[in-house]
Amino acid sequence: MGITNGVHHVAYRCKNAKETVLWYQKYLGLDFVLAIAEDKVPSTGEPDPYMHIFIDIGGGNILAFFELPTKPEMGRDPNTPIWTQHLALKANSMEEMLTAKAKMEADGIEVLGPVNHTLFQSIYFFDPSGHRIELACDTSTPRMNKALDKVKWDMLDEWDRTKKAPQHARWLHDGSEPPAE
Ligand SMILES: [Fe+2]
Repeated sequence: MGITNGVHHVAYRCKNAKETVLWYQKYLGLDFVLAIAEDKVPSTGEPDPYMHIFIDIGGGNILAFFELPTKPEMGRDPNTPIWTQHLALKANSMEEMLTAKAKMEADGIEVLGPVNHTLFQSIYFFDPSGHRIELACDTSTPRMNKALDKVKWDMLDEWDRTKKAPQHARWLHDGSEPPAE
């Protein structure tokens, strides 16, 4: 075991703290649990107002945001595709995931999926600040997990040499059965 046991909190920037709190509450049913605000940098006394909000995402994990009204608008890394950097939250069930999708779509929010990744099904959307959020509902079996565990190092080593996708777990993508033990 490593020396950590979960996400204490993950922090992103948001455009508007209140809008963010209400959005996560409305579409994902997540509770606002803490606000921390400051008008000055504690060390230097320089004016730098911020609002730091904390949202309970379940499982003892917290999603946090900073609103920084005096800073230039947030950008994103222009060299990284928009789908790459995202936060995937575990959905309790397919049913709740599809309800969230319907609620968002009713309000004109674009939702991609469900996409079947064999190990889990996912939907994707953007929050009001433009962060890409995924909801994932686990569909893996012990047999799948065992088969993947067996090939992970070979896949990583092959990738490291070739930078081409290794084919050890082709079954994940072509709908076939994972190999028996
Ligand atoms: Fe993902």
